[in-house]
Amino acid sequence: MKLIVCESYEKMSEKAAEMIREQVLKKPDSVIGFATGSTPVGIYNRLADMYDKSELDMSGITSFNLDEYYPISNDSDKSYHYFMEQNLFSRVNISRDKINMLSGEAEDPLEECRRYEKRIEEAGGIDLQILGIGRNGHIGFNEPDKDLEANTHLTELSSDTIEANSRFFENKSLVPTHALTMGISTIFRSKKIILLANGRSKLNAIRELFSDHITTESPATMLKLHHDVTIICDYEAYSETSIGIDIGGMSVKIGAVENFKIIEKRIIDVVPGMTEKELIGAMTAVCADMKERYKANKIGIGVPGIIDENGVTSANLLFKQCKLDEIMSKALGVSVKAENDANCAALGEQAAGAGKGAANMLMVTLGTGIGGGIIINGRIYSGKGNAGEIGHIGIVPEGKPCGCGKRGCWERYASVSALIEMTEQAAEECPDSILAETAWNGVNGKTLFKAMDMGCDTAKHVFDEYIGYLAYGLDILVSVLDPELILIAGGISRENEKIIKPLSERMSVTVPVKTAELRGDAGILGAALL
Ligand code: PGA
Repeated sequence: MKLIVCESYEKMSEKAAEMIREQVLKKPDSVIGFATGSTPVGIYNRLADMYDKSELDMSGITSFNLDEYYPISNDSDKSYHYFMEQNLFSRVNISRDKINMLSGEAEDPLEECRRYEKRIEEAGGIDLQILGIGRNGHIGFNEPDKDLEANTHLTELSSDTIEANSRFFENKSLVPTHALTMGISTIFRSKKIILLANGRSKLNAIRELFSDHITTESPATMLKLHHDVTIICDYEAYSETSIGIDIGGMSVKIGAVENFKIIEKRIIDVVPGMTEKELIGAMTAVCADMKERYKANKIGIGVPGIIDENGVTSANLLFKQCKLDEIMSKALGVSVKAENDANCAALGEQAAGAGKGAANMLMVTLGTGIGGGIIINGRIYSGKGNAGEIGHIGIVPEGKPCGCGKRGCWERYASVSALIEMTEQAAEECPDSILAETAWNGVNGKTLFKAMDMGCDTAKHVFDEYIGYLAYGLDILVSVLDPELILIAGGISRENEKIIKPLSERMSVTVPVKTAELRGDAGILGAALL
């Protein structure tokens, strides 16, 4: 099955109408199967529009409709005869004698079905069949059942269909209980099939359609056996919503993510004294609510810290060897995966930010330390579980001591903390400098840049030294990973223009270096995509 996901109902209708036009251009005497319901209305509007503009000539085609209520007067404004007349037949130039519909007035419904099958055969079979899909997975009026009738037949409508179609009637009791419909086999004899679905109510039916099984309990799943089916959906009918959780030291951000966009974001503050159990409880409650409302079926969690066979141990020790994924998966009944937060951020940038299109990418987050996210062939590379600890590659033998217990780690020279330390030291050593003046009531990551803007040589000197360390570490990583792109993230990356150019110039290998784009949202997005 071919899938086309469109951003709106209009685009879906446009696409399907264009495919019908192509069919008619290729074979002006095509036999086309039409459907009723609210889904194809947009296609019919578009076809009428094409006809008005002389872009479409339907005079040669023969049409067959999928179904009709039974019994019903063909003149009733609830009949599909009326629907087709209003929405299509009166607006384009299909010859009246080539329009075929099942008659809701037929005295002998079985004979009517036989006649219809014969007519389709005599017309040479259907070239292109348009289908909608019921929220219960029906196609035509082939309702979910233990077995399905192959050919055109009289059928009883399911209560779900009566409920769904009651919107076209004054009340539910007026919806006909029976209908005549092409059978699955009749539909399958079509050379080409286009199925359209829009809106949230079709989400489950479309999920079934793309699941691994085929069942008469969801008749559309049988389309997997047809050789030429195109499914055209809007985001609402197709999208999978997943939940991304980005655990930070001060807060936990939770987002419902669809099509690489955060559609809802909630923040849980991590208050002092909060226990692991309390935080998991709060996260689970938010996820349960989002799961219910968005039918989310996957959760990803980005955690700063170590993830190994013993579980998650976060940097702030809020989680200690905690089987976070197992606990939440059990509580919520969906799959939950935990991953290092820097890796999640890299995945988020690669899917929807500055890394779009790069299959091999390194994201370097400069902050208190240096975090790394490695994407290889479009996937996170996590080694045995904790790859990407790039802040701890040794760049100065016997250098400054690091919190990890080693000496000379890269983050001791190229993180924002290191930059602040270097700034403070230079201000102290050169008390008459502009830098010292800028730094007099405290140094942060911006102090050095402010002093440079004021033309301070001392600041420029510190900056050159800092950029040298940054470039040195990146050179090592490029030699190992050979990425297509390097993204720099973290607060300092806001100094974009001041950093990127000198950094690229100082690196001895040529790799595009850019700043990350998604800021705080990359972690949520990446976690949701795990
Ligand atoms: P709808 O119906 O287009 O009105 O949603 C489709 C169907 O039931 O097949």
